[in-house]
Amino acid sequence: MKNTIPSVLMPGQIGSIEIKNRLIRSATWEGLATKEGRCTEALCRLWESLVLGEVGLVITGFCYVHPSGKTTPYMLGIDSDEQIPGLQEICKRIHRLGGKIGMQLSHGGLYARPELIGNETIKAVSVESRQKRRKLQASMSIEEIRELVHSFGQAAGRAKHAGFDLVQLQAGHGYLISQFLSPQTNRRTDRYGGEIQNRARFLLEVYEECKGCVGSDFPIIAKINCSDCLAGGLEVEDSIWVANELRSRGIDALEVSGGVHGAENGPIRKDVGKEKEEGYFSTHARMFKDKLGTVPIVAVGGIRTIERASSLLDANGADFIALSRPFICEPSLAKRWHGGDHTRSKCVSCSRCFMEGLKGAGIRCVGASGANPGLIVVEK
Ligand SMILES: Cc1cc2nc3c(=O)[nH]c(=O)nc-3n(C[C@H](O)[C@H](O)[C@H](O)COP(=O)(O)O)c2cc1C
Repeated sequence: MKNTIPSVLMPGQIGSIEIKNRLIRSATWEGLATKEGRCTEALCRLWESLVLGEVGLVITGFCYVHPSGKTTPYMLGIDSDEQIPGLQEICKRIHRLGGKIGMQLSHGGLYARPELIGNETIKAVSVESRQKRRKLQASMSIEEIRELVHSFGQAAGRAKHAGFDLVQLQAGHGYLISQFLSPQTNRRTDRYGGEIQNRARFLLEVYEECKGCVGSDFPIIAKINCSDCLAGGLEVEDSIWVANELRSRGIDALEVSGGVHGAENGPIRKDVGKEKEEGYFSTHARMFKDKLGTVPIVAVGGIRTIERASSLLDANGADFIALSRPFICEPSLAKRWHGGDHTRSKCVSCSRCFMEGLKGAGIRCVGASGANPGLIVVEK
């Protein structure tokens, strides 16, 4: 008999955690932490609204692991033990509602903004990189690299201590780890630059450090660029090589994204087509799935319908589906789909939600009629 429940609404598993459906809220900067990077009631309410909206796994917006890595105002930090008690309370509330939550760990590298990091020198993988757009760059010394590897590990340990179900390494979109991976930004001539084996060293050290800090039964996943979609950037063959290295070390899942911010074909695209073209990195997700065997693959980027999401799973093109903008527009989208209303997400992919976040009151949808007018919509 044909299964009538769409595959995307069926339970799944990442590492040791059971997830009630295959829908993941892709990491999305919320713009709701304090100026000092502390968690707030509004941030908690936003995550609660997603859990009540029946998202299987919520991944937080990127959290800086070191003060030098801040890229965006009102971004959450996980750079200090002082963050743990507040986050513990939030995780308890999320778990009481039956939700699962992962924290995305990040460092901006070249993307860090001087006004947010106290005008400290911006950490660049190498100053020879073509992206010399900030006057305050300095090539990182080996000592500084070690310090940041350590910071990622400490941050992962704090996230576990606070009660998060997993951590995700932000290794794509042109942030620090991605800057190491990309030949365009990594012009180093030491053991962190050159061939992909060297460019991947920072990520692999970060992964091992995190594993050492959280133990082998705590899931670590990564968001990685299939390609930088940029001449001279990371290409898919190298990205698959990196993914295989992570697989052999025990990575629990890989979210396949692509592009770098500011480039023509970035990670957050407006040209999200109709059903046929939906999912602008789904061909790559399929490629990763074919090459990586048992590692769960998360498809992301422009997926808007339950049919497309389920068909990607049914065709063995992915194991999970991550959405960002549709959950800003409709935090209850998964609940709606579970309830039998399978109409397309109302998100029009205009990305104006991001600019709204810069105003200081959090991201919100301004593009779709009948969409979520603000974040604090908690349907109990
Ligand atoms: C407002 C906003 C904030 C975002 N913040 C993050 C982030 O913190 N970390 C990340 O990896 N991606 C971030 N993204 C990218 C999304 O996770 C996702 O990869 C991208 O938007 C494509 O998915 P979508 O078409 O479902 O929106 C953000 C996107 C938006 C619109």
